[in-house]
Amino acid sequence: MSIPSRTQVAIIGAGPSGLLLGQLLHRAGIDTVILEQRTPDYVLGRIRAGIIEQVTVDLLVEAGVSERMFKEGLPHDGFELCFSGQRHRVDMHALTGGRRVMVYGQTEITRDLMDARQASGAPIVYEATEVALHDFGSSQPSVSYTHQGERHTLQCDFIAGCDGFHGVSRASVPASAIQNFERVYPFGWLGVLSDTPPVAHELIYSNHERGFALCSMRSNTRSRYYVQCSLQDQVSDWSDQRFWNELRSRLDPDTAEQLVTGPSIEKSIAPLRSFVAEPMRFGRLFLAGDAAHIVPPTGAKGLNLAASDIAYLSRGLIEHYQEHSSAGIDAYSERALARIWKAERFSWWMTTLLHRFPEKDAFDHRIQRADLDYLVGSQAALTSLAENYVGLPMAA
Ligand code: APR
Ligand code: PHB
Repeated sequence: MSIPSRTQVAIIGAGPSGLLLGQLLHRAGIDTVILEQRTPDYVLGRIRAGIIEQVTVDLLVEAGVSERMFKEGLPHDGFELCFSGQRHRVDMHALTGGRRVMVYGQTEITRDLMDARQASGAPIVYEATEVALHDFGSSQPSVSYTHQGERHTLQCDFIAGCDGFHGVSRASVPASAIQNFERVYPFGWLGVLSDTPPVAHELIYSNHERGFALCSMRSNTRSRYYVQCSLQDQVSDWSDQRFWNELRSRLDPDTAEQLVTGPSIEKSIAPLRSFVAEPMRFGRLFLAGDAAHIVPPTGAKGLNLAASDIAYLSRGLIEHYQEHSSAGIDAYSERALARIWKAERFSWWMTTLLHRFPEKDAFDHRIQRADLDYLVGSQAALTSLAENYVGLPMAA
């Protein structure tokens, strides 16, 4: 594939954000080049949450990449909360007037988007290193990068920084122009993937005095489980046996008994963080997805927020090219941040409700239990939980 030296939108990063933006713009006849520092296999090797909100499902339909998701994904109408040895079902479908979520791995979405990119013939450069952003404060921005030992420059109209939390895009903005908001949590999640049938048809979020646990799934034969762990823990501290015993100890007796265990096929520890950078536009540079914000995984909002950023950004860029109006791109940052902060609040709240915080005392533990008791006994509180879990609406 020959890589052009000029494009309309230069996209940095080929995670879900960059690939989805590339796909939506391609369908609108807008040229893009995607620059990704890693290999496709590396990108597909990352395992992340897989709960897709209805608005994200709709966007994947609009992008023309929903076929396999509808075939292989599992629609879920509810999930369960477990505490004090009992499970309580949250009937999302009934509480939200018929809305639901789709369980479909983020890795699969990324694969579908990669396949669509390849089918479109639009350029994507893997192993593009030393990416540098230039002149995004002017009307003629550009991006330079090294590929196969050679330095290249890509001229463009706009740069989309879709390069994740550790990317170069946010780091290229002068510190005085950006404000960061952050909360780091004093624990991590140890995750295990295994080819065993999920313990239940729906997800179980468990609050236990030994710490949080989550029973999730990728299919009817593949499970994904998590336990809250210490930030000092190493994966090598956790044999499969130790993991299964710990998970079992944090579930109600019935579920614990039904748990089918087996060898792990992936095991990793992830820290938990809330983070937002404001604003999300700097002249002709836009930040989207994890490049601009991080949520803790409780509630699985990461991918869904990336998708709503991309919905707003793609609409703004399409409006710019097709209608010569800058209204959409001018509103991008404010519109995206309004939805982001609500999901930040929800993810922080769910994390606080369900985890054991090392610094908290007996009073805090009683308040947490009262919060859970109130929640499962109140239609109003359950409705609020359900409407956030299925995903808040996007601005028109
Ligand atoms: N140059 C080029 N590419 C880069 C650079 C760089 N300097 N830095 C990072 N990248 C690439 C990464 O290798 C990665 O493939 O940018 C991509 C960013 O992808 P993600 O981290 O998946 O971020 P995003 O696409 O915004 O997806 C957000 O990922 O973390 C989850 O929960 C989160 O679901 C959300 C989703
Ligand atoms: C997952 O399946 O990996 C998952 C599901 C729900 C969450 C977080 C992770 O809240």
